[in-house]
Amino acid sequence: MKGIVLAGGSGTRLHPVTSAVSKQLLPVYDKPMIYYPLSVLMLAGVRDILIISTPSDLPNFWRLLGSGDQYGIRLSYAEQPSPNGLAEAFLIGQEFIGGDDVAFVLGDNIFHGQGFSARMRQELKELDGCVLFGYPVQDPGRYGVGELDELGQLVSIEEKPSEPRSNLAITGLYFYDNQVVEIARGLTPSARGELEITDVNLAYLRSGRAKLVNLGRGFAWLDTGTHESLLEAGQFVQVLEHRTGVCIACLEEIALGMGYISADECMALGRKLSNSHYGDYVVAVARAALAS
Ligand code: G1P
Repeated sequence: MKGIVLAGGSGTRLHPVTSAVSKQLLPVYDKPMIYYPLSVLMLAGVRDILIISTPSDLPNFWRLLGSGDQYGIRLSYAEQPSPNGLAEAFLIGQEFIGGDDVAFVLGDNIFHGQGFSARMRQELKELDGCVLFGYPVQDPGRYGVGELDELGQLVSIEEKPSEPRSNLAITGLYFYDNQVVEIARGLTPSARGELEITDVNLAYLRSGRAKLVNLGRGFAWLDTGTHESLLEAGQFVQVLEHRTGVCIACLEEIALGMGYISADECMALGRKLSNSHYGDYVVAVARAALAS
């Protein structure tokens, strides 16, 4: 199983904030945005991950995350020179993917909810075709929209429909078998000149191999596409972290919990950051693990 985080795009809806900095490096409260989708892949048990971004932003992702060795994962990097669509990730990443299945996540999507890690691992184990994750939203027309029949079978997918057939937005986390590369190769650009992820999903749907998991209303899927939603996402994380004392998407804690690094290694990572609240948290996590 391989993982891909797509952190490209020009972030025009967030200009001028993103004029000089990649959107996926902006803070969502106490950590860079990309920590959230990266934590999702780590929690799914994916350790071999490709980060795709623009040629000018890629060095900054490297500066932030390096080889991934410190988290017991392997990070590779690849360029998407122009924003030619989400599905271009499978063409850029085809050598990296090789003969494996792939968990694909958008670098600006935030997921949080109990039981999510176990659910992802289960879905990956049973993967046959593609698995999409739906989330009920008030404004489905802004997203890809999936429609389920009364048996929970996925029956239609539409990209940003003006009259959505359901309130289930298709989130930016997608599990695909290896056929995704071949499907992506056969795509033609949409009217807006992009290789659309929805066209990939439709190809799976047509062959009866697409499943949509409804994450449900007890879950949180947050968007960061506008100034308002970015601020709200930060506030959401702040409220939960303050209330519970537990950090969302702390990569060091996840690496420790997954058994990818030792408590001593976690302690060393925390100490490096210990001028910050985040670093203090990592140190406390490591200390608790050493004491147990
Ligand atoms: C993309 C996809 C859309 C999906 C969304 C999730 O939209 O095209 O199907 O629902 O990501 O974040 P975009 O954000 O590129 O407009």
